Amino acid sequence: MNHFEASEASALTCAYDDIWLVAGQRTPFVDYNGVLRDVSPTDLGIYAARALFDKSGIPATEVGGIIAGNMAQASFDAYFLPRHIGLYSGVNPNVPAVLVQRLCGTGFEAILTAADQIKLGKAKVMLAVGTESMSRNPVAAYTHRAGFRMGQVEFKDFLWEATKDTAPGASMGDTAENLARMYSISREEVDRFAEQSFARAAAAWEAGYFADEVATVLNSKWELEGYNPRGLKLADRAERCERDGHVRVTAFETLQKLKAAFSGVQTGGNSSAIVDGAAAVIVAHGDWVRANGIKPLARIVAGAAVAVPPEIMGIGPAPAIRAAARKAGITVGDLGRIEINEAFGAQYLACEKELGLDRDKANVHGGAIAIGHPLGASGVRLTTTVARELKESGLQYGVSSACAGGGQGVAIIVENAG
Ligand SMILES: CC(C)(COP(=O)(O)OP(=O)(O)OC[C@H]1O[C@@H](n2cnc3c(N)ncnc32)[C@H](O)[C@@H]1OP(=O)(O)O)[C@@H](O)C(=O)NCCC(=O)NCCS
Repeated sequence: MNHFEASEASALTCAYDDIWLVAGQRTPFVDYNGVLRDVSPTDLGIYAARALFDKSGIPATEVGGIIAGNMAQASFDAYFLPRHIGLYSGVNPNVPAVLVQRLCGTGFEAILTAADQIKLGKAKVMLAVGTESMSRNPVAAYTHRAGFRMGQVEFKDFLWEATKDTAPGASMGDTAENLARMYSISREEVDRFAEQSFARAAAAWEAGYFADEVATVLNSKWELEGYNPRGLKLADRAERCERDGHVRVTAFETLQKLKAAFSGVQTGGNSSAIVDGAAAVIVAHGDWVRANGIKPLARIVAGAAVAVPPEIMGIGPAPAIRAAARKAGITVGDLGRIEINEAFGAQYLACEKELGLDRDKANVHGGAIAIGHPLGASGVRLTTTVARELKESGLQYGVSSACAGGGQGVAIIVENAG
């Protein structure tokens, strides 16, 4: 058995017969400190959910449960994030809401938890929302409530500190460098891959591919009878935000000039961009889909979560995809479209080598190097994207996957709904 292949016992897998990814929408993903910098993850999530109901025509009142995914608490009312997404997106006030967290696998977890709850018979229609404000990560101290010793102030940048895993004593970037060494991945290979990610995402935007997936964000106010209104205001007096902010054609030569961020092959140009954004999907039972004559995006076939050593967390998609495919009764070779989160270029390339993937099937519209990686939202984006790619190509099976800090991998297999 391969070193990275999680055993059946350690992989958490589940297959689904009649559970569907009905529709998905997301906000543009915008470089941190850009026009979404002041918007809380709750409000980003509300925006994505409302856009989803508007675009799909599915009434919010059909939803029977809410799963929200978010990593960084980024507002003083953060505890209420799942509940407020439900209340202010028009879901019935009597529908409960919960938050899930599997680091960069959080958005996938939101979808899989929704599918699990439907499989358990708890609801027929679930709203799953992944949302993240990287900009609003706090500068925080955890030990100062009772004061601090002179000269020992511990306020730190949570955004920077939170991507260091204190178990192996390694930042997420360091773990990508470990994979680069293990798989003999050169800076040139990583920059070539990054160039392709930027080129593919830019081409997809030019071709209008994202128009059906990305909702323009406008300044908004949401009233809720008997409660305080909420809203969303773009920074810099912007009136609208319509495109992913980090996507731009970037030449290999430009990427080669950037300095190493972790003393190896990774740079600010070939690592996932730090962005703000949210994505939302509806997951539903087939009975409801058929009864309402709805044309879903894809069938959710199987999901898997696995653990790998923390110091090589980025290899997680390899065993996760294998485990999910095995549960689905297919092989990796049966996957016509593959979306693996590009946390780091070397990390994606290590997964590609480990699984023997054909680049023509993977991240065909670019990945997080170009589009960005708002931690809690990425899984929802990637699963929506791969489902749409199956529709675009007419292929049968696809997978969305990501590594997760701490040493995990998660994958969702979807089947073209035709
Ligand atoms: C790698 C990382 C540390 C770089 O951070 P940073 O130094 O703030 O990155 P920047 O965006 O400033 O980019 C560095 C430089 O590259 C340049 N650059 C980045 N992308 C570029 C592009 N596409 N074209 C041209 N230049 C680019 C920037 O302009 C900047 O140039 P400057 O130094 O002259 O200002 C950061 O992106 C990171 O940590 N990413 C991963 C996040 C993460 O860990 N997520 C979880 C994964 S598990």
